[in-house]
This record gives sequence, structure tokens and C-alpha cells, in this order.
Amino acid sequence: MEKLVINGPSRLKGEVTISGAKNSAVAILPATLLIDGICTINNVPNIMDVKLSCEILEGLGAKIKWINKNSLEIDTRNITNTIAPIDLTRKFRASYYLIGSILGRKKEIEVGLPGGCNLGARPIDQHIKGFEALGAEVEIVGGNVKASAKKLTGTNIYLDIVSVGATINVMLASVLAEGTTIIDNAAKEPHIVDIANFLNTMGADIRGAGTDMIKINGVKSLKGGQTYSVVPDQIEAGTFMLAAVASRGDIVIKNCIAEHLDCITAKILEIGGNVEVNGDNVRVWCNERPTKAVIKTLPYPGFPTDLQPQMGVVLSLADGTSIINESIWESRFQYTNELNKMGAQITAQGKSAIFEGVETLQGASVYSTDLRAGAALIVAGVAAEGKTEVYNLEHIDRGYENIEEKFRNLGADIQRITE
Ligand code: UD1
Repeated sequence: MEKLVINGPSRLKGEVTISGAKNSAVAILPATLLIDGICTINNVPNIMDVKLSCEILEGLGAKIKWINKNSLEIDTRNITNTIAPIDLTRKFRASYYLIGSILGRKKEIEVGLPGGCNLGARPIDQHIKGFEALGAEVEIVGGNVKASAKKLTGTNIYLDIVSVGATINVMLASVLAEGTTIIDNAAKEPHIVDIANFLNTMGADIRGAGTDMIKINGVKSLKGGQTYSVVPDQIEAGTFMLAAVASRGDIVIKNCIAEHLDCITAKILEIGGNVEVNGDNVRVWCNERPTKAVIKTLPYPGFPTDLQPQMGVVLSLADGTSIINESIWESRFQYTNELNKMGAQITAQGKSAIFEGVETLQGASVYSTDLRAGAALIVAGVAAEGKTEVYNLEHIDRGYENIEEKFRNLGADIQRITE
């Protein structure tokens, strides 16, 4: 078993370069299945979820070559299989994108019901509603999703809930459909724009991504032959921004898109931190104890749920009583039990938590309950006094590239140890 051992506190200082976005990469890889050709993807984060995605694509007939540790060449000319490797698809969430892409390309698909972080119920009814509106029949049999269609025809689809996954999945299924599809009440996250840009680079005709109405004019085929670079990871950048505040450090976050970070910047300024944007670089520093805040997680451009645990660490250390309302996931406060082991004073109930700020946290043995919770515990360990051991690293490795190296380069005393 592996663990991270952190000896704190450290005031983080220096520069960190942000990787390509996990949530974009895990959608772009399935999206390549729509292409009858070869494409190259750069700025791919070298993380477990990407490696799993590659294995699944290969199981479907794709040929994949790592050109270097962050670039992939993917040949999807010969997609032979419409049953995705079931065990692998159950291991993470983004395997649901195979439904949209293979349904679009081959008109039939079977995958295991998607797994991923345990954040409470994670229904896919809006995805299914979209596929059915396009003309597919979808059934869930024995824990697998089976979808098939004689043909897919563009139509108007109103999503009842703003869903990142459903927006991308319906976009994937409609790229090769006949006619025009309109997705209304679409999600607007940066990676939705990224997937649309990727598909357009390969020959799709998608307009309006990044607004709440996306129009997809179906095309006959996607040809590939192009190179695309994954957008920088908003959530990784936000994790380091909040780490700078929690540790009262001073760091420059390189290779990010500052506009995607506005929702985080606004809160950091509100609680007494400092943010300076210089092109693709964002400097974040904090000299004093942050002050209390009220946070509500919302779809983009609101405060991201995927940064809620990291913000929870900052508010644990803030002056005063803070409140976080989690409006996306019903069970995203499991990390607060771990932070309380470190001396935090958090009372979580349902979708709200109250943070009575403490002056310091103390090191303890803590367990990642999910991906972002794991990142939050590292941030807490860096800010805390004494030795913190973080377990269950498999969650963290799913979505962060070289996380301990990046923290170490900023001055944290952090080691990965195999027991
Ligand atoms: C994606 C992200 C995840 C992030 C979340 C919200 C990936 C791989 N994961 O997850 O990290 O936390 O966006 O930003 O990109 N819902 C339904 N029915 C559906 C679909 C969703 O009721 O068919 C609900 C969900 O229960 C949740 C809300 O809609 O309450 C948002 O979910 P959604 O945006 O779909 O999240 P994911 O795409 O699963």
C-alpha cells in the first residue's frame, strides 16, 4: 500500500505548471472514436483515468501510441467492437462518453454502468433522454447500458438539469446524426468548449458551446489528420491557488487560462488573499490568516464543486465561521471527518457544512474518500503542523499528474512511501 507522508507546515513558494484538464481528456479520448482517421492529442494529463481510457479504446479496436508522456497518436479507422471492456468501464465515470461516441459511430454500444467517485447518487437519466430523443433505444440490463439505433436524427433537447456529462454525451451522439440538434439548458464548463473545439477541428459543425444553447449540425464523417491540445486543467489550477492561500505561500501557477479561474479568484480576494494575472500565469499569495466566507457550489461559471473540499481546508483555517452549501452532489462532505482528525472544527449535515475556523491544523493519518478530497488532504497536510499521512492514493492518482512532485517543487516536504 502506498501513502504520502507530509511534514508541515510549509509556506508554498515558486512555480507550478498545470497539466491538461482531466475532465476534458477523458471526454476527448472517447470522442476520437467518432473519427475515421488518425489524430494527435497534446497536453494529455498522464493520469490513471487517461490510461484506463486508452485501454478501453484499444479494446474497441483503436490503435494508440504515446509519442511522449503527454502526447497521444490515436488511430480510430478500424473500430471493430461495440461492447466496451465492461470491467474497465465500471472503474470510472467518464466511460459513459463511450455511449455517445460509439452510438454515433456504430449505432450500437454496450458499456458497464459508469463508476467513479462516490459523491452520492449519480444518475444518467438526462444522457438517456438525449439519446432517445435522437432516435436510440436505451436499456439498462444487468448493470450494463445498451443503446442502439437504426439511425440518429437531430432534434431539440432540453436538459432538465444542467449536466456536464449529459451535455457532452448528447453532443457526441449528435455530431454524425442527420440534421440539426439543439441542446438547451446546456452546461458551460471550459471542457465543454474544449470538446466542441476538438470535434470541430476534426470536421464537426458545433456552435454555441460555452453558452446554454449548443447547436450541432450533423456531418457525414470526421476525418482526423489534425493535432489538438487539451485545455489547461481549471481544477488543478484552482487546487494550487487554494494551496497557496491555505499555506500562506506565494506561488505562480503557469499554463492556465485566468478567465476559467474567475470564480476562484473572486473568493480568494474576498477572504484576504491576492491574485495577479500575467498572461497564462496566475500568481496567488496570502500573507495573513484568511477570513470567513459563504460558498455555494454551482455549475460553471459558479464556484466548482470539484474545488469545494480544497476550499474547505482554507475555511477550516480562516478567521471566523464559514458555511459551504454543496448544491451539485449529495455526499461530498466525507472529507470533513478526515479534516476533523487534524483539528478542524467542521459540522457537516446533508448538503451543508459549518466551518469554525481554527488557527492551526495538526498532522494525522487520513484517508482520501474521493479524488478531490484526496487533493484537499494534501493541501491540509502541507499547511498543518507535524506529520500527515495520506492513504488511498488510488483516488488522487486517477486525476492529478505528479502531484507530490509538483508540491515538492513548491517547497513542501512530501514523499510517496510504499508500505
Ligand atoms: C462532471 C465531472 C465531475 C464534476 C461534475 C460537476 C467529469 C468526468 N466529471 O461529472 O468531476 O463534479 O461534472 O461539475 O467530467 N444529474 C442528473 N441526471 C443526469 C446527469 C446528472 O440528475 O443524467 C445530476 C447529478 O446527480 C448532479 C448534477 O446533475 O447532481 C450535475 O451532474 P453532472 O454535471 O452530470 O456531473 P458529471 O458529468 O457526472
